[in-house]
Amino acid sequence: MMLKRLRCLIVNAALSVQIAAYMTPEGNVVIPGASSYNGLGLVPQMGWDNWNSFGCNVNESLLLQTAKAMADYGLRDLGYNYVVLDDCWSQGRNSSGYLVENPIKFPNGMKHVADQIHALGMKFGMYSSAGILTCGRYPGSLGYEQKDADVFASWGVDYLKYDNCFNMGQSGTPKISFDRYNVMSQALNKTGRPIWYSMCNWGDDNPFDWAYSIANSYRMSGDIYDSFNRPDSRCPCDEAIGCQWPGFHCSVMNILNKMAAIQARTMSGGFADMDMLEVGNGGQDDNEYVTHFSLWALMSSPLLIGTNVLTLTPANLAIYSNPAVIALNQDPSAGGGIRKWRYSVEDKDEFGQGEISLWTRQMQNGDTVIALINGGNSTRTMNATAKDIFLDQATAGTFMPAAELKETWDVYDLWANRLSTTEAAALINGTAPTITSASNSTTRYNATAMSFEKGLQNNATALFGTRVGTLAPSGTWTAQIPRHSTGLYRLRKAGSGLRKRDEL
Ligand code: GAL
Repeated sequence: MMLKRLRCLIVNAALSVQIAAYMTPEGNVVIPGASSYNGLGLVPQMGWDNWNSFGCNVNESLLLQTAKAMADYGLRDLGYNYVVLDDCWSQGRNSSGYLVENPIKFPNGMKHVADQIHALGMKFGMYSSAGILTCGRYPGSLGYEQKDADVFASWGVDYLKYDNCFNMGQSGTPKISFDRYNVMSQALNKTGRPIWYSMCNWGDDNPFDWAYSIANSYRMSGDIYDSFNRPDSRCPCDEAIGCQWPGFHCSVMNILNKMAAIQARTMSGGFADMDMLEVGNGGQDDNEYVTHFSLWALMSSPLLIGTNVLTLTPANLAIYSNPAVIALNQDPSAGGGIRKWRYSVEDKDEFGQGEISLWTRQMQNGDTVIALINGGNSTRTMNATAKDIFLDQATAGTFMPAAELKETWDVYDLWANRLSTTEAAALINGTAPTITSASNSTTRYNATAMSFEKGLQNNATALFGTRVGTLAPSGTWTAQIPRHSTGLYRLRKAGSGLRKRDEL
């Protein structure tokens, strides 16, 4: 017994020793013991990117006004802190080969934009392509990686989204793509500035196998579009594995289902990116947007707002602002949900689509989250059995039923405390009270004051929804789920959800 305790003490002491990061002769930053190649991205990135709603229509005031609104509406303090400028920002290269910003769109230069965003306590992201041109046909970074990384660092850039267009045929095997993307990874490291590296190669050449060692996130599908489930010939693959043509115009359900096979590869330090959010762009109804947001959060995808923040409706702000759902995304377990089952149903919608599925994920604190998706065309009763929910815990060759089947679970509805339209409108018009993490709000949270990790440890009320029932030992959770909706529940061992008041 004594020996065991001693061994435990030594292990703990070893773990708490901080070993300094160092740079290899090749310019790789090595952080011993860290779960990220460059120390960034232990949980998924959150922020805003202009592409889904503005395309090439970018300029300084759009970025600065958006950043200000994000701070004013409480989005920054919910963790949305990267403001990312996508394609079409450049003018070309100067005679020394350095990229120059378009002087009409960015009259004060890019460093000014970065400085203003930093002054708001936020971070600045930019875009280029691992090709000779970007997808919008502006100069790309292939062959200019170090120059471009240096210029980004000199402007104060904190994040690089790196696309795949015009790659001169340098793709087709994982090794070719790895090498091409690795040049920029190393160039960014050499700048000495911490820069989140967001690979955007659409799942080409299986980045789920190799991107983790050189990037903080990697796209796993062709581009999203603002549709719940409408099939589109331009997005021909249903699976991420073996997809020869990722395409674009991929629906929410198409991208989600592509994650099912590769979910185990998403992890702290290297996240599978399901693409930017469409909430607010008008192509889906409220239930569909709730499903989109819930599942992107559950799968540990980046949460990048993809709409015009300046015209956000209260209902859409309330979706982006649900702390109990964001807390799934920012959970230190940093994993992907598992699709336990998926069935086709008879009640098809106008696109001939109709499916239901159950997704589950274990969280750091031992809770389990379940998502029951009704992709059918009418409200239905849906069941999640404890056996399905805890399927993975029962394996490991023991032939023993999962210990979890013996427990009673309190079930918390994670959408129960969504901001009302009135509360969200007050945030937009600036009349809502400011919130600190110490306040006892059920609807709002300030992650700048207290990280999600800490709030989860402290059972902060806003992160856990509302208790709506129990799952008996080996029982079944049953819920009525409307058309194109998701029931999102957090299961906690009965009695474990008591809030530790004195710690808050
Ligand atoms: C695509 C990329 C989009 C957007 C666009 C810009 O390849 O997937 O997210 O960045 O290029 O042209």
